[in-house]
Amino acid sequence: MCGIVGYIGRKTAAPIIIKGLKKLEYRGYDSFGIATIGSGIEICKHAGRISENARSALHLNGTIGIGHTRWATHGVPNDINAHPHTDCKNRIAIVHNGIIENYAILKRQLIARGHRFLSETDTEVIAHLIEENYKDNLLSAVQNIVPKLQGSFALLVISPEEERIIAARNASPLVIGIGDGEYFAASDMTPVLEYTERAVFLEDGDIASLSPANLEIYHGEKRVERSVELVDWSVEDTRKGGFAHYMLKEIYEQPQAFYDSTRTLDQETLPASVKKTSSVAIVACGSSFHAGLIFKYLLEETCGIPARIEYASEFKYFPPPVSCLVIGITQSGETADTLTALKQAKSHNCPTIAITNVPGSSVSRIADTTIFMRAGPEISVAATKSFIAQLAVLMQLVNLRSGEQFTKVLLHAHRAIEEVLLMDLSDAVSACKQAQSIFYVGRGPFYPVSLEGALKMKEISYIHAEGYAAGELKHGPFALLSKDTPVIAICMPDETYGVMISNIKEMKARGAPVIALGIEGDSELADIVDIFIPLPKTHKFVQILTSLVVFQLLAYHTAVALQRDVDKPRNLAKSVTVE
Ligand code: AGP
Repeated sequence: MCGIVGYIGRKTAAPIIIKGLKKLEYRGYDSFGIATIGSGIEICKHAGRISENARSALHLNGTIGIGHTRWATHGVPNDINAHPHTDCKNRIAIVHNGIIENYAILKRQLIARGHRFLSETDTEVIAHLIEENYKDNLLSAVQNIVPKLQGSFALLVISPEEERIIAARNASPLVIGIGDGEYFAASDMTPVLEYTERAVFLEDGDIASLSPANLEIYHGEKRVERSVELVDWSVEDTRKGGFAHYMLKEIYEQPQAFYDSTRTLDQETLPASVKKTSSVAIVACGSSFHAGLIFKYLLEETCGIPARIEYASEFKYFPPPVSCLVIGITQSGETADTLTALKQAKSHNCPTIAITNVPGSSVSRIADTTIFMRAGPEISVAATKSFIAQLAVLMQLVNLRSGEQFTKVLLHAHRAIEEVLLMDLSDAVSACKQAQSIFYVGRGPFYPVSLEGALKMKEISYIHAEGYAAGELKHGPFALLSKDTPVIAICMPDETYGVMISNIKEMKARGAPVIALGIEGDSELADIVDIFIPLPKTHKFVQILTSLVVFQLLAYHTAVALQRDVDKPRNLAKSVTVE
């Protein structure tokens, strides 16, 4: 869950790497470091964020360099544990994203053979292993040691004795950007887009040698060719574009993300496995899990197709599904638990589909079929436009399996999202920002909408928030209700309306202020709650979307009011590549 960047070419490497690492900070931001080949290996590494300490690395010389922005796993975030790490003789510098699971035993063996370790990281063993194997060929040294490593890694290695970068990949993403007389290596395309749209996505087991004039890729020892892909993400998508935060920009990009993503599928491109399946299992984590849960409700209700859903991390503890379609939903395409669950499904001969946002991501190499949503790069740690884009794809799947009952609804949904973006939520923000704890409640598909609302709020505002099925609150959580514990209820004019009104009255009777999302003009609801948030009168699918957008904005403005670090909330990383 770290970000890595490498550059080799004619330009000074450090500024390019600094810029690239800033783009990858969403992957981790507790410390950073850069190594270049100038007069020997030159290193600058520090605890803290590259975005706040970039100047400290500008003095590094040379046209070859590697950099790292860290989300600590082994060892606290301090200067010493920050990457790059070096060998005993300072001949080798490496950056690493992933986890070396057998590092403890390797470290003991290396210490017994006389190596001196400086850091507490798992990564440092790699530098010492390469040191032992390095005579005059860095590529061979890396090829020799890679089989000794268990776990996940995307590695970049340099030595002042060679004019090249060696890159290796196993179960952590690594893309090579192809420029004119220059190459870039990075955890994803965002640092590269500014220079080139041509890229090679390395496969697990690949080891690449990048020199200014040449890219050679090996699979183990064998030379292989990998296709060059064109990535049509725009560099503008990776900039804030006048918004105070990426999150707000990405929330505002949702009408487009929804519109574009519904167009990824039609009857012709609908995968055969979806056309013929009579049952579905869904695996996902976090927000993607909530998108899957909404899908389950809509698919079962509309198409009568039974759907089971598991947190990807729990999938292995249940009996495997029997001959059903397994759908993995993952924005990043790199979430370790989701990848593992899909591999497990495949090992039981289940057909698999991945829904992801990131071209070349690992999940697309695992699943039988991949559906790419079209949200464009999402930088803020909180998932917003990728979530709405997931729903666009999932709602389109429901539409296509149901005989296209919802084509018109989906075609116009982006307009309602646009309307909601302009809403004034200041009263609700005032109520939330002073709360100790907030409950979000809904029924039917609005229950997972509540889960997502609560996740967004806790993730970026640090206020404790919980989503509940509205009927469950009286089975325990009622004990927590007080004037400091607002309840945010979704109350739509459907078959749940009457019972939701009763639930809201019960909560009010226990002293909790109630903020309600309902349909404009609903005076019955508006009269019994403290704050009424009116949504446009639309189809149920669109009510789901508009409620979600309100929850995103509510979380965003509450977090801003509390002066939180909205795009990079504490302790989190966007891409969770460890189980
Ligand atoms: C959502 O705001 C979070 N950042 C998180 O829950 C995220 O959805 C989860 O980690 C899954 O990520 P994925 O979609 O990339 O697999």
